[in-house]
Amino acid sequence: MLVEKNVPLQALNTFHIVARAHALVRVHTEADAVALCANAQWREVQKFVLGGGSNLVITGDVKPLVLKVEIMGRSLLRETPRHFIVEAGAGENWHDFVAWTLDQGLPGLENLALIPGTVGATPVQNIGAYGVELQDRFDSLDAIDLQTGQMFTLDAAQCGFGYRDSVFKHAAGDKGLGLKDRALILRVRFALPKAWKPVLGYADLEKKQAEQGGVTPTARQLFDWICQIRRAKLPDPAQIGNAGSFFKNPTVSPEQCADIIARDPKVVHYRLADGSFKLAAGWLIDACGWRGKSIGQAGVFEKQALVLVNRGPSADGQGATGGEVMTLARAIQTSVYERFGLRLETEPVVL
Ligand code: EPU
Repeated sequence: MLVEKNVPLQALNTFHIVARAHALVRVHTEADAVALCANAQWREVQKFVLGGGSNLVITGDVKPLVLKVEIMGRSLLRETPRHFIVEAGAGENWHDFVAWTLDQGLPGLENLALIPGTVGATPVQNIGAYGVELQDRFDSLDAIDLQTGQMFTLDAAQCGFGYRDSVFKHAAGDKGLGLKDRALILRVRFALPKAWKPVLGYADLEKKQAEQGGVTPTARQLFDWICQIRRAKLPDPAQIGNAGSFFKNPTVSPEQCADIIARDPKVVHYRLADGSFKLAAGWLIDACGWRGKSIGQAGVFEKQALVLVNRGPSADGQGATGGEVMTLARAIQTSVYERFGLRLETEPVVL
């Protein structure tokens, strides 16, 4: 296994932040992961698992050993009475995998089209968009424990999925079984329903449907609609550095929601099944006047205030630093807190 030293990370994170990894190993196979854990030199070293770098803010050169997961492969594994079970290597590009499942005639992931990143990162974040979360299509995953070198398999319950949350985001003891910085995900399996139905109902999708004369879309059409909607309102990381939504949409009690409505009746809010309310963080940030603003080279995207962007040219290394991005994030948190009495939680991993 080749250990690369002093590796530029700008092309390996979608914010295009300039930083270097002191050491980086590319993990191509399960055997590489096993060998790495068996190696006495590397066993005790702190490690950071890097997928597509699409949910990451790097605030300086990275001292832990970076494990760049490049395990490939995708296949229809088996079927159950109600599902097709499809498996992909953790290093596969997520969007390409979604497109591939549709090419195989296996719908179910189309609402999650165009989310940047790799397959292995999707359970960590429990990615979600347009009414579908990863946990709705998840079957199981295989991983290796970086401390012990043991392989293990987790089902959905063991992954502890929540809104943009999982067991992989918590340290041990934090929320039951915590696997933060401990697990390297090798493969993920998805359960795609044989009785497929389009998941509509989201405002942007209903608008598309109405524009198309009310047709019930095929999975391929729905995939195209999602891609069009995302391209219209979210920046393409290939053009403008970003990590998708920078903050989570907060969930509040009915009392808190009433308090915020009293501060501004236009606040975008949705009632959840358990009686609590979800607020649109993008709206709250926008209402505080942040849309289009910048601190240094870090900015708030003009078309969607929930997304922070790198305004610097990505080619010559003069873009935003991770510090600038976090300064902007904290300034936004302060504004939203002062105006609405609510603390926004950040979404990306800060390294
Ligand atoms: N809004 C504003 N101003 C803004 C941004 C949003 O008024 O600057 C309003 C919109 O008009 C809308 C509401 O806020 O009424 C919600 O906005 P949107 O539909 O764009 O969705 P979101 O809640 O901001 C979430 C996810 C996205 C996902 C979309 C679609 C989170 C943190 N974000 O965004 O996920 O694509 O819904 O399902 O839950 C991601 O996690 O990286 C991501 C892009």
